[in-house]
Parts: sequence; C-alpha cells; structure tokens
Amino acid sequence: MTIGLSKEATRKVAECLDQHLADLFVLYAKLHNYHWNVVGRKFFVLHAQLEEFYDSAAEEIDEVAERILMIGHRPSASLAAYLKKATLREEDSSPAKSDDLVRQLVADYTTLIMGLRKGIEAAQEIGDEASADLMVGYIAGYEKTVWMLNAYLDR
Ligand SMILES: [Fe+2]
Repeated sequence: MTIGLSKEATRKVAECLDQHLADLFVLYAKLHNYHWNVVGRKFFVLHAQLEEFYDSAAEEIDEVAERILMIGHRPSASLAAYLKKATLREEDSSPAKSDDLVRQLVADYTTLIMGLRKGIEAAQEIGDEASADLMVGYIAGYEKTVWMLNAYLDR
C-alpha cells in the first residue's frame, strides 16, 4: 500500500482508532445533552464551555475517521455501530447538575485517555508515527481538560 504499511500491520491501530471514533460520537451526543440540560447557578459558564468541548469532538471525529482510511481501513459510520462499540455510555435527557456532569466528564475523558495509550503503543510498534502523533495530541488535550474539570470541582 502507498504509505508503506500493510493492511495487516495497521489492523490493530485502525481498531483502536475506530474504538476512539465510537467513543467520540457518544461523547459528542452527551456533551450536547449536558449543554442543553445543565441547570443551576453555573448554567452560563458550563453551557458555553460544553459547546467548546463538542466543537472539538466534532473536529476529532472527522480526523480520526479519515486517519483510519489513510491507513487502509474503513471507519464505522453508523450510530448503531458506534453504540455497539463504544465504551462510553450515553444518558437520558434530564436536568443535569453542574458538579455531577463535570464528574462524569472527568471519568469519560479519562476513559478516552486510557484507550488512546493502548492505541499509541500499537502504532509505535509498527512505526505508524503519524497515527501515534495524532493520538498523543488528543491525550494531551484530554489531560488538560481533566485538569481543568478537576480544578472546577476544586479537588
Ligand atoms: Fe447551543
């Protein structure tokens, strides 16, 4: 194949990226859910921040899916497939208290970080530096997000 990595070699990396893609779709829906349903005195700050988070998730969704294609595989592309594959869980539409939703997001972003660490290992094993680099960038962003969310919770 044109980038010098066989389909066989990249299978595990593509699988990790596809897992991340599925989780990002669930996160994307969940961030909208919280953006709409957040209640309480922190409404304005969280409403705006959640919009920033889901805008980032939307960009990443596209990048991750296209990376999977670049390394010779096909990304999952249906909500049914994402829900089946995702580690993150979506939530019903109901009023969301600020501390509760922020705590849940800390857990979710941490789950993403742990999944990506495995993906990076798989990519480095086969010399797929660009996939590793993409995932390293996401981890750095999520670690910053987790730090900020924990600061918000004052813990
Ligand atoms: Fe909005």
